[in-house]
Amino acid sequence: MKLKSSAVITGIGGYVPDSILSNSDLEKMVDTNSEWIVSRTGIKERRILTDKTLATSDMATWAIKNLLDSTKVSPEEIDCVIIATSTPDHLLLSTASIVCDKVGMPNAWATDVNAACSGFLYAYTLGSSLVEGGRYKKVIVVGADQNSAIINYKDRNTCILFGDGAGAVLIEPATDGTGLIDSVFKTEGKGREHLLVPGGGSKVPATAESVAANKHFIHQDGRVVFKAAINGMTDTCKAVLERNDMTIDDINWLIPHQANYRIIHAVGDHLGLPAERVKVNIERYGNTTAATIPLCLWDFKDDFKHNDNMILTAFGAGFSWGATLLKWGKLRTA
Ligand code: ACO
Repeated sequence: MKLKSSAVITGIGGYVPDSILSNSDLEKMVDTNSEWIVSRTGIKERRILTDKTLATSDMATWAIKNLLDSTKVSPEEIDCVIIATSTPDHLLLSTASIVCDKVGMPNAWATDVNAACSGFLYAYTLGSSLVEGGRYKKVIVVGADQNSAIINYKDRNTCILFGDGAGAVLIEPATDGTGLIDSVFKTEGKGREHLLVPGGGSKVPATAESVAANKHFIHQDGRVVFKAAINGMTDTCKAVLERNDMTIDDINWLIPHQANYRIIHAVGDHLGLPAERVKVNIERYGNTTAATIPLCLWDFKDDFKHNDNMILTAFGAGFSWGATLLKWGKLRTA
């Protein structure tokens, strides 16, 4: 299946909190050591939103403000905002509606998408479809997560991995053949037991017992997720190339979800991509869930050239995973 691209990223913004949680800080909190963390994950430090009055919506708001500043697009022009997050400010009401208010986007309708670490990829494809359909001209898609709100800082299996952050993209109609080409996505609900926050939803509502049993923190069977992530991302990258008559030699950049450097390295290897074409910033931010891919685009945007072919790929809770093929366009400048 070969689709004509017609919705393109024209702006990128990002936000990470100033406060750094380093590996040596974690050494004082749990039985771990920096050498283990770096060699097993590639992570050196992560950013944490420490101000208890702030939440995911604030990081998403700052990422969008950064995007609007850098593109000189006014908030009134935005038609729709989709926020990928699995750490919403509240259970009942979308974080996107809070963000619309905080940024001041009076003409936008807004909603959230929850697909954990694959959330940004799914939301980016959904947002692009709105533009491709012709009804919407300016759609903002954000990946934002405050993982520190659902991490047990006594659990060394998870607390070393995650950080907080937000990244935002502006999607507009494409006129030069650049933009999103195709996505191959998968969802396998049987994987849900291996990676989840068990409590807080309708199945296990918050009670004194659920809090005492640590049900409101991330639980992960790291080894199962590790293998599934490598296989899932590799397979969908190959599938999206094949159904668009492309090979890995046509790809300038791979932007993988940043969960573990060893996963990223294995996926690049299986695809036959040289390391210099695989973007990595996990050492500075850790796993920011839905924010990893837009933060990578934000960090490395100066490396990307008009018409570069890219694959974005992610794997996360659900299980949910996939790969999106796109041709890089031109970013608006202020
Ligand atoms: N410090 C020191 N030692 C540790 C730590 C730690 N923080 N954590 C585990 N260990 C020990 C274990 O106890 C074990 O010791 P043992 O051999 O004596 O039993 C040993 O190190 C190896 O443990 P493993 O769990 O096998 O370590 P592994 O190499 O698998 O790394 C990790 C663990 C980093 C969690 C890895 O499995 C991983 O990255 N998994 C995938 C994460 C991911 O991709 N998640 C998906 C996205 S997240 C989302 O959707 C929200």
